Amino acid sequence: MQEAVQEKGLYYAPDPASRGTCFIGGNIAENSGGPRALKYGVTKDFVLNLEVVLPNGEVIETGANTLKNSTGYNLTQLMVGSEGTLGIVTQATLKLIPCPKRNMLMLVPFSSAEKACQAVSAIFKAGITPSALEFMERDAIQYTMDFTKESPIKLKDNEQAHLLIEVDGNDTEVLFKECEVIASVVEALECGEIMFAETEAQKEALWFLRRRVGEAVKATSIYKEEDTVVPRYQLPQLLKGVKEIGNRYGFKSICYGHAGDGNLHINIIKGDMNDAAWNNELTKGIRELFELTVALGGTLSGEHGIGYVQKQYMDIAFTKVELELMKGIKKLFDPKGILNPGKIFT
Ligand code: LAC
Ligand code: ZN
Repeated sequence: MQEAVQEKGLYYAPDPASRGTCFIGGNIAENSGGPRALKYGVTKDFVLNLEVVLPNGEVIETGANTLKNSTGYNLTQLMVGSEGTLGIVTQATLKLIPCPKRNMLMLVPFSSAEKACQAVSAIFKAGITPSALEFMERDAIQYTMDFTKESPIKLKDNEQAHLLIEVDGNDTEVLFKECEVIASVVEALECGEIMFAETEAQKEALWFLRRRVGEAVKATSIYKEEDTVVPRYQLPQLLKGVKEIGNRYGFKSICYGHAGDGNLHINIIKGDMNDAAWNNELTKGIRELFELTVALGGTLSGEHGIGYVQKQYMDIAFTKVELELMKGIKKLFDPKGILNPGKIFT
């Protein structure tokens, strides 16, 4: 779909890492994000109206095909991200925007992951909104290069984390200036040597690497994946806390994600952990991790949803009253509980 609209000079910005294999219906059900959500918004920001089949077979339209709508409750946004628990989307009216004509991509190494995280807020404070601002820990890069057998990044010994930063627009000079501002911000935080992707092939190689991190980690180890999100200025605190919790519970974590959105994917690696610890003790560790996330003003999932796996932690993000309201909505739409039973709520 992205390619089809691009031929007409239009742009559908949400671009989950699974793009190429995922479907728009799934994106709507999960409110998918991806790197470019940072500047343009996630799936919900691109859905104007939906046709939905309710569990009783009735067909409804959730809104109108307009850019603005203040007419009654916002059923469109209620459906987006509802994980297939309220109805089945059969048609979607999506918003398209003009396709930005140019982009520039830079890769910035840091000697500490925390410094890289600090740079994230600093870039926005300098007045720049990149079209993507991705964070990858050293291990995330190493695992992915081992997995894909391609090495677009030469890792130096002291480099612990990288930021992949893209700016886009229509005017090359403006983009150059934005890159200069970004460079001065990251240099003030003692980054290593900045690499600018000079060709389309170089850009593609870097994005290919970034988009394969999740798959690479999953292929390499037994893992659990969390999708924490905090206000972006809290990212350094979150990362520090994740490592500290990992040390106490004896797990290694590989962190990467959409740093500009404060959205950190945390892959917990089983490694040498025995099965008992992995299945029981770790649950407490993950609970601590989510408690920290919420204490920092964040929440459980930025873009992956709750499903079966995270539902046991919903009480950390919501009060009883809030959870009962949500369950009431589920009952109203699906009194017999036939749509995606067992998802989101225990
Ligand atoms: C990513 C997926 C895992 O950002 O959300 O790579
Ligand atoms: Zn992601």
